[in-house]
Amino acid sequence: MMEEIIIHGGRKLEGKLKLQGSKNSSLPILAACVLVNGVSVLHNCPVLTDTEAAVRILEHLGCTVTRRDHTLTVDSRGVSCYTVPEAMMHEMRSSIVFLGAMLGRLGKAELCTPGGCEIGLRPIDLHLSSLRLLGAEIEEQNACLHCVCSKKLKGTVISLSFPSVGATENIMLAAATAEGSTTVLNAAREPEIDDLAAFLNACGAKIRVCEGGAIRIDGVKELHGAEHTVISDRIAALTYMAAAAACGGDVLLEQVQTAHFLSVNRVFEQAGCRITAKPDSLRIQSNGRLRAVRDIRTLPYPGFPTDAQAAVMAMLSTAKGTSVMVETIFENRFHHVHELNRMGARIRVEGRVAIIDGVPALTGAPVTAVDLRAGGALVIAGLCAEGTTVIRGVQHIDRGYENTEACLRTLCADIERSADCGSRQQPIQPPVRSVLG
Ligand code: EPZ
Repeated sequence: MMEEIIIHGGRKLEGKLKLQGSKNSSLPILAACVLVNGVSVLHNCPVLTDTEAAVRILEHLGCTVTRRDHTLTVDSRGVSCYTVPEAMMHEMRSSIVFLGAMLGRLGKAELCTPGGCEIGLRPIDLHLSSLRLLGAEIEEQNACLHCVCSKKLKGTVISLSFPSVGATENIMLAAATAEGSTTVLNAAREPEIDDLAAFLNACGAKIRVCEGGAIRIDGVKELHGAEHTVISDRIAALTYMAAAAACGGDVLLEQVQTAHFLSVNRVFEQAGCRITAKPDSLRIQSNGRLRAVRDIRTLPYPGFPTDAQAAVMAMLSTAKGTSVMVETIFENRFHHVHELNRMGARIRVEGRVAIIDGVPALTGAPVTAVDLRAGGALVIAGLCAEGTTVIRGVQHIDRGYENTEACLRTLCADIERSADCGSRQQPIQPPVRSVLG
């Protein structure tokens, strides 16, 4: 049965929201549990289809996992299996970070290339070449990876040609219990990397960020279990901020690590919002009449995050003037543009550049989310549009936003979820063509 999100737009957003734990921190930290010979307790783990998929992989590998509310207890003493079934690998892209952890713990792994949101080619060459440098022997056959370490992995210097988040995580996992020291040059510096390092260090690893941003991992013999609280989800926060900015209102986000927002608050301020930042909360005030922002370029952290590009584009679709957004991280991350244009936005895409001519208002329409952050953008568009928006493809939204309708209802939005049994009479509406057609 397909579910839909139904939004009656046009309400201001007001109130307080406690932010969910970070999806992109939880996933590598759950994979890291495989390395641990003991029991780990993880607080603030969001309930999402992606985290549940990671739990299923852990259980398949021999862990016992129990969830109590947002706390997961992972007993990894029984890890013995070294294969991950294809169906589990296809559920999400970050299943690939299990590879580094499995090699570190078991010395071998058999899995296939991962699935995940369709936002670009998303190769794993940097993961594989880095693991090979550490001594793993990896054979690729029909999209399956056969990996063995005939000797213990050995630390080395790895210089990444791009600061890939997943490759950096895989190196940290594989190198944590390798012989000797590993230095990762041009490593990713996202807050989720620091969170993974914090968990691994709590388990006995020796990982530190050196001056200049290189990551140094001094291999240790074994890791023990530890207790850790996952950081809050900066992308969910940015999505709710963009919603408040577009609809107008006054929203206080609690349990936020404000330090992670330095480069993005500027964009909201340029658009005309007022941001009040305290160390663990962010307040956004907007009168709903936004100004265009000329040049937003997605970049590795601390630059503007690609994961917030769709949400901020939805926000700017009703800003006065012309905004320009450049997507430099993924080559195919504009799936939301067509659907936003169906709601009356005027956005055209030229290669990796989106040009957003602000319109006075969006109009509710039936639309479909085809990836997670495109889904977040459509929710924002529905909240600020005139009339009713029905969003399909809700399963994408559930990968990364925990209980999003309930969160938005606490902010006074008119939003609900319903099962679509195929009976809804949707007005047939031809798609509004973008300027480029
Ligand atoms: C992580 O994906 C996040 N996912 C993504 O969030 C996020 O968009 C991305 O980092 C960038 O910030 C998780 O943390 C689970 P990358 P990841 O490796 O690790 C290319 C969301 O919406 N590349 O930094 O897969 C790649 O194709 C998700 O929450 C290679 O060429 O991102 C891309 O163009 C989606 N070869 C760029 O690097 C490689 O071996 C960045 O990818 C690896 C990556």
